[in-house]
Amino acid sequence: NRLWLVVPAAGQGRRMAADRPKQYLSLLDRPILAHTLARLHSAFPDARLVLCLDDDDRWFSPEWVPFTDWQRVTGGAERMESVFNALGAIDAGDDDLVLVHDVARPCVTCDDLLALHQATQQHASGALLAMPVADTMKRASAAGTSLHTEPREALWHALTPQGFRYRQLYQALDEARRRGTLLTDEASAVEALGEAPKLVPGRRDNLKVTHPDDLALAAAILTAQRDTLER
Ligand code: CTP
Ligand code: MG
Repeated sequence: NRLWLVVPAAGQGRRMAADRPKQYLSLLDRPILAHTLARLHSAFPDARLVLCLDDDDRWFSPEWVPFTDWQRVTGGAERMESVFNALGAIDAGDDDLVLVHDVARPCVTCDDLLALHQATQQHASGALLAMPVADTMKRASAAGTSLHTEPREALWHALTPQGFRYRQLYQALDEARRRGTLLTDEASAVEALGEAPKLVPGRRDNLKVTHPDDLALAAAILTAQRDTLER
């Protein structure tokens, strides 16, 4: 079976409010997108990469793609559409594994990527990297007051990658599209089919670069990882 890596990178990065989509902002020595693709390549050098890009993207350069086997597909208006377009554009087998990873998560480690891949192979409902919630969680009222405290033992942050078999993911996203529900990750679409994807505890530094102050944080994480993890 083949391994496919779908990387949605067609977002505009509105919350970052920069002069370009956030995936093209520089982190240390190169754009966020280049870091993310390099991490994926280090774990899965032989996988096929499917990169979702906006048709009007003026920033992308193929020099940042370390994969020999890759293709570009047109992104959609929402993240889910971008991923769905990618699934529609490839001729994957039903049981091929598809790992979906946000371009905005450049700090994902090789170990976490391999753990998620293994869990995806082992669990028929798929798997996602995730992190137990550390803070006390409050249920808020519309007026912004604290109504009660949620038991946090059962709460996790959903990270990426998230991995599924091709046919299952395609059907889940197709169903979500038909219902018109807006989802922010693949696991929610699969859960809606009655499946329970495996939560794979991931590192806490798998940050999604979202707001301006995340840039300094991501740079510090990459630097710390270079000192502790690599080479
Ligand atoms: N994404 C995508 N297509 C879209 C929207 C988002 O491929 N239409 C991708 C982003 O490029 C990112 C991932 O989905 O890798 C997660 O989305 P998010 O962090 O929300 O990025 P943006 O949508 O770019 O940021 P914002 O919501 O602040 O505009
Ligand atoms: Mg977004």
